[in-house]
Amino acid sequence: MSLTATLGHTAATAQVAAGQHDPAIPTSAPLIRARGLVKVYSTVSGDPVVALDDMNLSMADGEFVSIVGPSGCGKSTMLRLLAGLDTPDAGEMTLGHQPITGPSGAVGVVFQNATLLPWMTVWQNVILPLQVGGGNRAAREDAVREYLSIAGLTGFENKYPYELSGGMQQRAAIVRGLARDPKVLLMDEPFGALDALTRERMNGELQRIWMASRKTVLLITHSIGEAIFLGDRVVVMSGRPGKVLEDLRVNLPRPRSHAETIADPEYIRLAREIRRMLDA
Ligand SMILES: Nc1ncnc2c1ncn2[C@@H]1O[C@H](COP(=O)(O)OP(=O)(O)OP(=O)(O)O)[C@@H](O)[C@H]1O
Ligand SMILES: [Mg+2]
Repeated sequence: MSLTATLGHTAATAQVAAGQHDPAIPTSAPLIRARGLVKVYSTVSGDPVVALDDMNLSMADGEFVSIVGPSGCGKSTMLRLLAGLDTPDAGEMTLGHQPITGPSGAVGVVFQNATLLPWMTVWQNVILPLQVGGGNRAAREDAVREYLSIAGLTGFENKYPYELSGGMQQRAAIVRGLARDPKVLLMDEPFGALDALTRERMNGELQRIWMASRKTVLLITHSIGEAIFLGDRVVVMSGRPGKVLEDLRVNLPRPRSHAETIADPEYIRLAREIRRMLDA
């Protein structure tokens, strides 16, 4: 399969590549489109918090988009809205032309500080999403076994979360996000708790899974390097209220290896530009 076919690029990424930075670019068929999202939280102290203000994001089918931004700028809020777990105060969101009004089986989520249910084993935790989905359960369980193996968790299926390290728990939570074979995977800092070497390995595995499965992935990360290494695009958000500062196309060939990527002038250029924006 050609790389272009694998990545499923559409006019959206091409236009971004051409230097048009509006991420709500009208495309023939973006899989996910969010326009003008506003989210205001009321607080006990009385002052409302404007978490998102005019947030726009468009993702093509099969695209991998990374989001970076300062702490508290509304990244997790954005993810919850796209997952249908919360509603915006203004704006619209669509998944495959359908308005997002609640959680969907087509969307898998790996939450920030993902927690496994402590009274369930690793296996029970990761197949939990299959309880509510239809489809061929036996085939999905085989796939989950494969993901557990990739995540280095084979042999730990019958352990309880307290018997695992923090990194292992996080890897199990990632496998849980993949369990129902969602079309879209929303990941909120999924590797934050991992040590640097495991993180690099999981980055490589995520790239491999994504290239093989053609999922549409949104990855929120605090790591500029991780955002570039994995992304077709890196969306840089402003401080709160969050909106898109810049939407950068990553022109690096795939599959990417860490060693080659971090030495690539394109990587160095992007990393510098993103850091400059985040420092500003
Ligand atoms: N349920 C809530 N009630 C009130 N305020 C909230 C709520 N959730 C988030 N906020 C506020 O909204 C803003 C955005 O929060 P959010 O969790 O989306 O940030 P973030 O970009 O994910 O930050 P981080 O990088 O630290 O995870 C913050 O100021 C936060 O305090
Ligand atoms: Mg967050």
